[in-house]
Amino acid sequence: MKIIVRKGKLADTKSQAIILPLFAESRKLSGTALEIDKISEGLISEIIKNGDFEAKPSQISVIYTRGSLPAQRIALVGLGKHKEFNLEKLRGAYAKVMQHLRNLNIKEAATEINSDLLPRKKDQVAQAVAEGSLLGLYQYTPYKTVGREDLKEMEQLMIVADEKDFSLIESAIKKAQIIIQAVYFTRDLISAPANEMTPSIMAQKAQEIAHRENVSCRVLDKAKMKEMGMNALLAVAAGSNQEPKFIILEYTGSRKKSLPIVLVGKGLTFDSGGISIKPAEKMDEMKTDMSGGAAVMGVIMAAADLQLPLNIVALVPATENLPGGSAYKPGDIVKSYSGKTIEVLNTDAEGRLILADALAYAAEFKPAAVVDVATLTGACIIALGDDVIGMLGTDDKLKNEINKAAQTTGELVWELPLWENYHELIKSDIADYKNSSGRAAGTITAAAFLSKFVGDLPWVHLDIAGPAWTTKDKPYVPKGAAGVAVRLLVEFLRNRVHK
Ligand code: BES
Ligand code: MN
Ligand code: ZN
Repeated sequence: MKIIVRKGKLADTKSQAIILPLFAESRKLSGTALEIDKISEGLISEIIKNGDFEAKPSQISVIYTRGSLPAQRIALVGLGKHKEFNLEKLRGAYAKVMQHLRNLNIKEAATEINSDLLPRKKDQVAQAVAEGSLLGLYQYTPYKTVGREDLKEMEQLMIVADEKDFSLIESAIKKAQIIIQAVYFTRDLISAPANEMTPSIMAQKAQEIAHRENVSCRVLDKAKMKEMGMNALLAVAAGSNQEPKFIILEYTGSRKKSLPIVLVGKGLTFDSGGISIKPAEKMDEMKTDMSGGAAVMGVIMAAADLQLPLNIVALVPATENLPGGSAYKPGDIVKSYSGKTIEVLNTDAEGRLILADALAYAAEFKPAAVVDVATLTGACIIALGDDVIGMLGTDDKLKNEINKAAQTTGELVWELPLWENYHELIKSDIADYKNSSGRAAGTITAAAFLSKFVGDLPWVHLDIAGPAWTTKDKPYVPKGAAGVAVRLLVEFLRNRVHK
């Protein structure tokens, strides 16, 4: 669906449906709602008065205008109470109303960014409206061949704005569409089955991103990794016939020789657990174990399209984790790229191994900051649930920046501690570190392990095991891949520009 911005008024707009968001307190109508109510001789006030529509969060009522307005329908959508309102509620409301209209087989709709209704910065409101609408309408359909003609799709959302807001809103929507497109790209990569999203295919997708101006892509193959000593990554890859790839995507948006921000994303295109194999139930979901890698690729895509004046590098170690005849085994010891040795106690704790090599390699770019994104631990889901990103790291300023971005985007993070005592738990008897120390504090020990390979760089680790994939519809994340962390990191980067 495309979004267009036009000058005008909603009351004058010809459309299959005009969308009017309302607060629970709007028994007394004002602004556009009042204007439309007057023209339509009370269509809105009648339905409110009779109690059919209370403007509960995401409540929807569709009313026929019967010729009283150029638009065919009015779609009311509830925003809940004024004081409980935030951008997340707005995203949810627009997702719900757009899905509702799509179900009615409506192809286009119109709405406006109204300051009476939405007491926030108008550009942020416009972005949230676009995000809710488009992210909520996402569907992954390339493999559906039966009944394709029944798939419904919205084609256009028109946002009408008055003269004085037009350029602000138009530019906010343009940027929002770029970011949303990157989330779609990331969701598509994650949704793709592992047989069609191998490390090589991921690398090809990265090469396609690099067709943009100021973006370049290098892919290290197995031979190169051997030469460089990325033995932790190679150990994980050993059981698979798919060649591992180490993807390096560089965006040079700053002409100055400014230090880059390095983003590292876990790229397990399938995690069976290896010899420490996982149970069959839900193993299919482990095609999503490259969600972090897909997210950082999406971030480069968005940063380039937004032309952010920053230098950003995305590193994606990509491999499968399978129990083949040459697979690595519990008890194996590997010498990582950093030179530090790792005792493998559980081949299912593979994410931290490939990230160990990637994080140590990140130092070569002399980064201003390093952020890694990974579906790293089931323990994070136990600790924080399905909706929240676990955050750990060494740099308070960086953590604050991420947290601030999270408040805006609604991709919430919660910090877990990385205190000294946890570091005891990952010491190995015969090597430097072990990759698994049992169930206690699983998310923290994983991060403690990663910290050994980052060195002194300002670093934050984001464990997205919970929100990366959802088995039930969320307001603007339909069941499936969320593309989580793309909007969070783009917001973080945009805020860095303004500093
Ligand atoms: N990819 C998994 C973590 C995961 C589990 C992500 C469920 C999303 C949903 C990771 O590689 C893994 O298997 N971690 C183990 C670590 C353990 C063996 C120390 C885990 O969490 O059980
Ligand atoms: Mn695993
Ligand atoms: Zn994994």
